[in-house]
Amino acid sequence: MTRSDSDSWDLASSVGATATMVAAARALASREPDALISDPYAEGLVRAVGIDFFTKLVDGTLDVGDADDSGVARLMTTIMAVRTRFFDDFFLNASRDGVQQSVILASGLDSRAYRLPWPDGATVFELDQPQVIEAKTAAMTHLGAHPTCDRRIVAVDLRDDWPAALRSAGFDPALPTAWSTEGLLVYLPPEAQDRLFDDITAMSAPGSALATEYHPDGGASMSERAAAVSDAWGDHGFRVNLPDLFYAGERRAVADYLTEHGWRVTTAPRSEMFARYNRDFPENDLLAPMRESLAVTATLS
Ligand SMILES: C[S@@+](CC[C@H](N)C(=O)[O-])C[C@H]1O[C@@H](n2cnc3c(N)ncnc32)[C@H](O)[C@@H]1O
Repeated sequence: MTRSDSDSWDLASSVGATATMVAAARALASREPDALISDPYAEGLVRAVGIDFFTKLVDGTLDVGDADDSGVARLMTTIMAVRTRFFDDFFLNASRDGVQQSVILASGLDSRAYRLPWPDGATVFELDQPQVIEAKTAAMTHLGAHPTCDRRIVAVDLRDDWPAALRSAGFDPALPTAWSTEGLLVYLPPEAQDRLFDDITAMSAPGSALATEYHPDGGASMSERAAAVSDAWGDHGFRVNLPDLFYAGERRAVADYLTEHGWRVTTAPRSEMFARYNRDFPENDLLAPMRESLAVTATLS
């Protein structure tokens, strides 16, 4: 299945299935000895979606190490653990700095609004496609989960006028905001990516912060890795061609784009993020380009 401008999905199809994939990785990562993250909801959320492959993964009836020969699937778990921890730390640091308003763009099955120790008075907006955000909210209720903040959901396509939808949900552009885009950019057309950062910048009061990640080659090497992951999973009956979900085309380097728009930007390659969290990045030719993905934090003064 290829992309079209107005395509939509649920958590079991197309781009939505990638949110389930990431949640499965978080469920597995949360169980590791010396775990980097603790996401007590990921497993239940994956079960609620009901994709057999991911349910078996979190049930432990399909060993992640058996899912392919090259260790790609196992590394996915570690990559997602490091990525999740990076964004967790970003929000916790912003909260400590006094930022009370947060926006999670493309929230998928992210459970931060339920599991992070938000300060009193914190508001967290979650934006994603309607079927994704509604199913996640229903599943969390079913799991008996309660937000640890004032959680507001915004059901919207991020290629559309999401700023208007965000404002309608009570977003206050006069307040400093912590923004995240995690696992999103390759699923947006290049021009929508630029528009996203334009809109974020326009709605950011001084003191706002932003965390994101991207690959410096625009995602070409991501496609290669994603094809390998798709093949491995196809062998186990889960058929989604991940590279078909990415938008091709030249992209602006996010760090440069943000700098031009007045943000003070810090980047760290994934290999450095692994070291920061005491994890080894495995030797693997196929995955070597993944070392170069950049974790970005930016602030607006
Ligand atoms: C790889 S998942 C990441 C989810 C979440 N950020 C996480 O890390 O667990 C990609 C998410 O982006 C969302 N997404 C991608 N394109 C979108 C769009 N145009 N509008 C709204 N959501 C979108 C998908 O629905 C999905 O939840």
